[in-house]
Amino acid sequence: MAEDKNSATLSMNGKDYELPIKSPTLGPDVIDIRKLYGQAGVFTYDPGFTSTASCDSTITFIDGEKGELLHRGYPIEQLAEKSHYLEVCYLLLYGELPSTAQLEDFESRVTKHTMLHEQLHFLFRGFRRDAPPMAIMVGVVGALSAFYHDSTDVNDPWQREVASVRMIAKMPTIAAMAFKYTIGQPFIYPRNELDYASNFLRMCFAVPSEDYEVNPILSRAMDRIFTLHADHEQNASTSTVRLASSSGANPFACIAAGIACLWGPAHGGANQACLEMLREIGTVDRIPEFIARAKDKNDPFRLMGFGHRVYKNFDPRATVMKQSADEVLDLMGIEDNPTLQVAKELERQALDDPYFADKKLFPNVDFYSGIILEAMGFPTSMFTAIFAVSRTVGWISQWKEMIADPQLKIGRPRQLYVGAPMRDYVDIENR
Ligand code: SDX
Repeated sequence: MAEDKNSATLSMNGKDYELPIKSPTLGPDVIDIRKLYGQAGVFTYDPGFTSTASCDSTITFIDGEKGELLHRGYPIEQLAEKSHYLEVCYLLLYGELPSTAQLEDFESRVTKHTMLHEQLHFLFRGFRRDAPPMAIMVGVVGALSAFYHDSTDVNDPWQREVASVRMIAKMPTIAAMAFKYTIGQPFIYPRNELDYASNFLRMCFAVPSEDYEVNPILSRAMDRIFTLHADHEQNASTSTVRLASSSGANPFACIAAGIACLWGPAHGGANQACLEMLREIGTVDRIPEFIARAKDKNDPFRLMGFGHRVYKNFDPRATVMKQSADEVLDLMGIEDNPTLQVAKELERQALDDPYFADKKLFPNVDFYSGIILEAMGFPTSMFTAIFAVSRTVGWISQWKEMIADPQLKIGRPRQLYVGAPMRDYVDIENR
């Protein structure tokens, strides 16, 4: 819990208002304005919440100036190097790194929940075959609340625990089924002897007519992508999940809301948009043309995969992702991948350009992830779906933290009303 210390004084209309200041473990102090409207009759104004803390949290901390990302205090670089996704899931969910026994139990519980209710297969068949996988995921995840009623009571800690494990376990299966459905191939069932990332790759790329061996370098890279996208403070989709959950809605519906928000190209959809941009650039000689467009105020084009609301330095995830991109492409024997060459040259030129340096626009997590996913054989339409698989543990962890918070209130922002003043109705014959 943040400690209280001195206060800030707001002077307006000849009166002074004392607003408590809270100091966090890490990061800037916050001014507690919860009583402001009651005391001073005014709102604060912060569209996009650039200067607003929406909650207390103990899960993830980002230092945007230093380019640091901590999960329960552990730096993302160390977790990416030494841990693996399900261990990071345990850390995010329960707050500490697990013992061997705790990890084995957690991994076993997740493994035993990877299958979907067989009736859900018919829901997939209601979609067109060319449906975007993200559209299928929003629909199917929202529908889980129609199948798993025994874990929808958010006030029951045991049901919250079951829903958490079910979501983490079933998202890879749902994403893989969405992929298979859109390419007209049969669904592949999960295998309990495989680790999380290997299971996902096999469900995506195996076919019933032959055996399939997962390449350990690709499953390690997949696991690392899952780890790097797991949680990220109060980003747009996590804030969506928190706001939806604040009304008491069931966890499956709230996660579906998070998936919908993540879909946007300014957020999780950026990895797909970034790769499409790199393809559109095509060759390194066209990079200056696109950099000029990104700097042109009259052109809505932006360099996808660049910039971040919080990071005003390198996104530490992008640095790790860049190393994985080199490893995967070396393995695939496509180290001279033209898209990767364009990406590396674009990064070099953009970082040399005062526009990007001055605005602190550095590559973010989405800049390199698409290149790895494409090298693995995924179509761009699956990139954000894979981001959603990974971020489910972040959404669920933040949801659990919020539901257990004794200060929980339904989220209900106010507004600055700039519309018409009160006026009388005008009959149509007098308009
Ligand atoms: C994710 O929040 C999270 O944590 C998100 C995420 C997570 O893990 O959950 O990290 C995942 O969403 C990463 C971001 C992926 N999005 C993209 O790569 C899309 C391209 N980036 C931009 O859309 C933008 O940078 C945002 C949305 C990411 C951040 O936007 P901000 O902080 O609201 O900043 P802004 O849009 O107001 O831009 C500030 C200035 C503007 O110029 P001025 O009006 O000041 O002159 O920088 C410019 C912008 O025009 N700018 C860019 C740019 N991004 C910002 N110019 C060119 N190319 C870009 N990519």
